[in-house]
Parts: sequence; C-alpha cells; structure tokens
Amino acid sequence: MLKDIKILLWFCVVHVLYIKASPSCQKYLCTPEVERLRDYINIRTTKDRNLSPAVDYLKRLGAAQGVEVTVFENKPNKPLVIFKWPGQDPTLSSIALLSYIDVNFACYEDGWTYPPFSGQINDNCEIEGRGTQSQKSLSLQHYEALSRLTNNNKTLLRTVYMILTSDQTTPRDDVEVFFKSKTFEDMNVGFGLGVGGPSPQREIYLYNKFNTKYVIRVDCYGQSTSSAFLANINSTALGVCENFYNYYNEYRNEQYRLSLRSNDFGDYTVINFVGGKNLVEYNVVPAHVTVYYSAYLAFDISFDDFVKMVRGWASAAGGNITISSVVKEKGIYYTKTDNSNPYYVALQEAFDELDISFRVRASATTSDTTYLVNAGVPAFGLFPVLNTPLLVNSVNERLPLRSYLEGIRIMEAAISRLANLAGDKTGNDPRKYLLVSQSHK
Ligand SMILES: *[C@@H]1O[C@H](CO)[C@@H](O)[C@H](O)[C@H]1NC(C)=O
Ligand SMILES: *[C@@H]1O[C@H](CO)[C@@H](O)[C@H](O)[C@H]1NC(C)=O
Ligand SMILES: *[C@@H]1O[C@H](CO)[C@@H](O)[C@H](O)[C@H]1NC(C)=O
Repeated sequence: MLKDIKILLWFCVVHVLYIKASPSCQKYLCTPEVERLRDYINIRTTKDRNLSPAVDYLKRLGAAQGVEVTVFENKPNKPLVIFKWPGQDPTLSSIALLSYIDVNFACYEDGWTYPPFSGQINDNCEIEGRGTQSQKSLSLQHYEALSRLTNNNKTLLRTVYMILTSDQTTPRDDVEVFFKSKTFEDMNVGFGLGVGGPSPQREIYLYNKFNTKYVIRVDCYGQSTSSAFLANINSTALGVCENFYNYYNEYRNEQYRLSLRSNDFGDYTVINFVGGKNLVEYNVVPAHVTVYYSAYLAFDISFDDFVKMVRGWASAAGGNITISSVVKEKGIYYTKTDNSNPYYVALQEAFDELDISFRVRASATTSDTTYLVNAGVPAFGLFPVLNTPLLVNSVNERLPLRSYLEGIRIMEAAISRLANLAGDKTGNDPRKYLLVSQSHK
C-alpha cells in the first residue's frame, strides 16, 4: 500500500514537471480522483484485449471501499461487474448505475496528438484518451460519488448497484439476457441511470428516450458480365443497388433538412450507408452485391412503417433484390418526465440544489439503458459532464478535469436524492413510470 502511494506520488511529480499546466490546473493534477481515472484509461479495454486487468482494477477499487464486487462471465472475455453499495433498508427497490468497461478501437496513427491510452493531461488541463468520454469516466464518477457519500457517513436508504458491462462495442445480447435473469430480478431494481453524452453548455442533459436501431442488409443480384461489355445498368447487381441507394438518398436528404430545424435526436431518422464488399476481379461485373445501411428511427415513425418504406424502395429499384435485418434494437418504452415520477422529481431537486439547469433529450443511440427500460425499469441516461464538446469515440477524445470533477459532485447529489427516496414515494411496480414508445405501436 505504502509502495503504491510512493509510486503514485512519483508519477504525479514527474507529470507535473513535464506538462506546462496552468496554475489553475495544478490543483487538479495530483488528486486521487484524477490519478484513478488515469490508471483506468491506461488499461486497454478494446475488444481484442483481455479484459481481466480492468476487472482486477475494479476489484481493487471495490476492496479499497470495502464494497462487494461480483463478476459474471457468461461468455469468455465478456465480464459483467457489479458493485453493491448496501442501503439501510434492503426491502426497498434499489438503484442501478450502468456503464461500460470496453471501449472502441483507437490508433495513434489515426492522428491522435497523444497516445490514446496514455491518459496524458494536455496544456488545457484535459485528460486525453479513449474512454475519457465513453464511458470509463462515467464508471469512476459513479464510484467516486458513492465513495464520498459513504466516507462522509451519508445515509443510503436504498441499495445502489453499479453495473459495468463489456458490450459497448458488440451486440448487447449478454446484457439483454442479464436483465431477464434471476440474479437481476433479485436485485429488485426500481430505477436506473445509464450512459449519455456530455453537454457543451452549462446545462445537464437527461436522456429519457432511446431510438430504435436498425441495421439493414441489402442483397442485389444481376447478370455477371465482362467489365469490357456495356450492359443495361438495371440488369446488373450494382445497378439495382444503386436504384435503391437513390431512394435512400432522397429520404436521407429529407431527414437531413428536418435535422437542421431541430436539436432533438428524436425528431428525425438518422440513416447512413455504411458500405459493403463486392469486388471480385477488375475484369468482372459482379453478379451479387451486398451493402449495409444503419438507421436510428425518429420517434414519430413506427418500426413496421419504416420497414414497409424500405421494402418500397426495394421494389421500386426493380430487379432481384432482398432486404434483411442484421441488428434490431427497439426502444419499447421511455421514462416519464413529470411530477408523477418520483425519481424524476428527485433528480430535479438535486439539480436545483446545485443550481444547474437541465434539459430532457432523446438519445442518439441505443445503449444498455434501452434494455433496462425494455425490461420494465424506468431509467435516464446521465453523463454529468458540462462545458465539454461531444468527442465520444473521436480522435483526441478528451475530458476537461474541471468538468470531470464537477460531474462527481453532480452525481453525488443525484445518487443521494435517488437512494434516499422514502419507500412510500415509489410504488411496487416501476412500470408505471414508463410510457410506450411511438415506434413500438
Ligand atoms: C464516520 O463515522 C465513523 C464511525 O462512526 C467515524 O469514525 C468517522 O470519523 C466519520 N466520518 C465523518 C467524515 O464524519
Ligand atoms: C433503370 O431503372 C430505373 C429505376 O426503375 C429507371 O429510372 C431507369 O430509367 C432505368 N434505366 C435503364 C437504362 O433502363
Ligand atoms: C435472385 O437471385 C438469386 C441468386 O442468383 C436466385 O437464387 C434467385 O432465384 C433470384 N430470384 C429471382 C426472383 O429472380
């Protein structure tokens, strides 16, 4: 332990000498919170890596606070880690805080100023690296907030679980299965907070709706010919796929115009051509072309209507073309944001107490929270990071230390209110705080 502290101080001193941090930054640099985040960013958790060093790190964090940490590994190298912070009244429903262990790939060669897993602090007092926004920092904000509450002897009436999954970069089947398991049922979760995006202003974003995600595979068949022969374009596979593309593009332009008039992700459908592989040889026109489109549906279009529209493009494209769905993640419910929902009221009070305004928004993507809500548990996405541009999964992903540390205080206030909601404030059935999403009707 003493050795650890010595090493920590040594790193810290070297680091402080090395960077040209402004004097106002110096005070953040050697704080244990920042060092813990840096250590965690240093552990690569891309899906090609063994995640056990990250799990061991999390276990050490739990041990330092005397908190029970349980690891489930239903599939190899897909750990699901649960921290249990016990509440005084275990008969009350609990609060779940969701975040991810795994991160997207990042290569220095893609143009990073600093190595992407270095956790370097730059001259603007920002910590650099993959995971600083998505979503290692959120896991540690949950941890730091709960540590502070318990270290300061603040009451938690309800048990709070941190649930860290490793399904961010892969299909979320494991998480979906977990939320239907007996283990999860026994946790008696009444409400959850999951991932979100940072806010560029001094305004907290609370995400209550999760779009339906749909990845479409399009297969076009046609005449295979020599590339030295000029066939009617519609008799070729690529010609058929191109006709389909033109209908898609027309629709996309419409949605793009809508997006310019709106700042809510739920108002328009996001659809993108994401590519395909079809080269056979330079002198052959391929007989079969496969391409993929990824869509996040607007809230005013139902899933069935969307599929009908896409099939319409296919039949209008003529020729031999098939449509199939590759990924389908439906946002079935969303969480009420009015005074009938005591969890929402508790958050509202926490933000009022901090004197920070907040806004309810739709999430641009699906996440584990989508499945939590689909399992009947009301939840919001909340990444309590303000005055920070959205750089989730970008090159030079980074996070201002000041915003990170302020986020811990925001999380502390939020958890304190949620975990101390009296038993008579919430009913037995959390589903009453949910509404059925339009896209599911
Ligand atoms: C919390 O309670 C423990 C045990 O009663 C006590 O030793 C400690 O000083 C308290 N801490 C704070 C910050 O009040
Ligand atoms: C190919 O099909 C499209 C869409 O049906 C049509 O607009 C176009 O005129 C056709 N081109 C040829 C060369 O037949
Ligand atoms: C479409 O192409 C596939 C592959 O060549 C073929 O098996 C199928 O019979 C074709 N369908 C039609 C309606 O032509």
